[in-house]
Amino acid sequence: MVKGKQMTGYVLGWVSPLAMMCAVAGVLPAAASPVRVDELVQRALRLDSNPVRGGRLYAQQCRSCHGSEALGDSARVIPALAGQRRAYLIKQLADFTEMERESADMHAVVARAAIREPQQWVDIAAYVNSLPVAAFPETGDGEGVELGEAIFQEQCASCHEEDARGDDDGFVPSLRNQHYTYLLRQTRGLASWHRHNVEPDLVRFLDSLALDELTAVADYLSRMRGPVRDRTRLDDDGTAGN
Ligand code: HEC
Ligand code: HEC
Repeated sequence: MVKGKQMTGYVLGWVSPLAMMCAVAGVLPAAASPVRVDELVQRALRLDSNPVRGGRLYAQQCRSCHGSEALGDSARVIPALAGQRRAYLIKQLADFTEMERESADMHAVVARAAIREPQQWVDIAAYVNSLPVAAFPETGDGEGVELGEAIFQEQCASCHEEDARGDDDGFVPSLRNQHYTYLLRQTRGLASWHRHNVEPDLVRFLDSLALDELTAVADYLSRMRGPVRDRTRLDDDGTAGN
């Protein structure tokens, strides 16, 4: 019966195949956006990258906020991009483009003609991925570092890896060499649906952590510095290798 009613509606006017698919599948049209992100990302990953072109684009379009060496800005809560995983960077640019991740600043950036194409994302991702990482002076107060290590190794390392290096295949970001303020904001932001195109279980899981637990993990992660080494334990001074 329901199907019959829907069919009557369709003959009255043109209905896009996508709307029809959504109606038949019983999902809202909004669900189309993650599908579009996936298409854009898959298309991007098939392209060859040109980091030299990416560097030029970066200087014109990104440097003013993310910094001349892509190290971000802790005071403005702007993330470092240097050394970040390519697949993750590309997915984030697609998410911002399709409004799957909140950020007025980044929405304005990806609306520019110079940053609209997957080829441009791939070039910039290759460029920033190759840049040297840096240590940042800011960490938490250190009181929760042990708790943070325990939580991270038990609950986060299965995806982010023991040394927080992330994983290209799963679009999992590196959490190393990142600003404390940004890490803290993102763990809380993820928990409150600041990003729409992520596994609901991940959001619910981060939401289940108390604020002092999130603070502890961010503090621990903000001490994860330097190029990757196979290290799982902290040094006495709280750093995880350099
Ligand atoms: C006007 C300032 C501004 C400019 C210009 C800008 N960004 Fe951003 N970007 C931000 C802010 C702020 C965030 C953090 C958003 C949030 O809080 O989720 C961000 C986040 C990102 C992220 C997500 C990083 C992560 O770890 O999840 C990526 C990727 C990114 N920007 C890439 C770029 C690229 C590439 C350019 C140039 C084409 C650019 N940005 C230009 C301000 C800017
Ligand atoms: C099931 C796998 C999984 C687990 C477990 C997991 N994460 Fe993630 N995490 C991800 C993925 C995938 C993303 C990227 C989400 C996106 O595409 O926007 C992410 C993103 C993040 C980000 C944003 C990084 C950035 O640059 O913006 C932070 C911070 C983070 N996770 C922290 C944690 C912490 C802390 C834990 C443990 C308490 C954790 N994650 C557990 C998969 C996981």
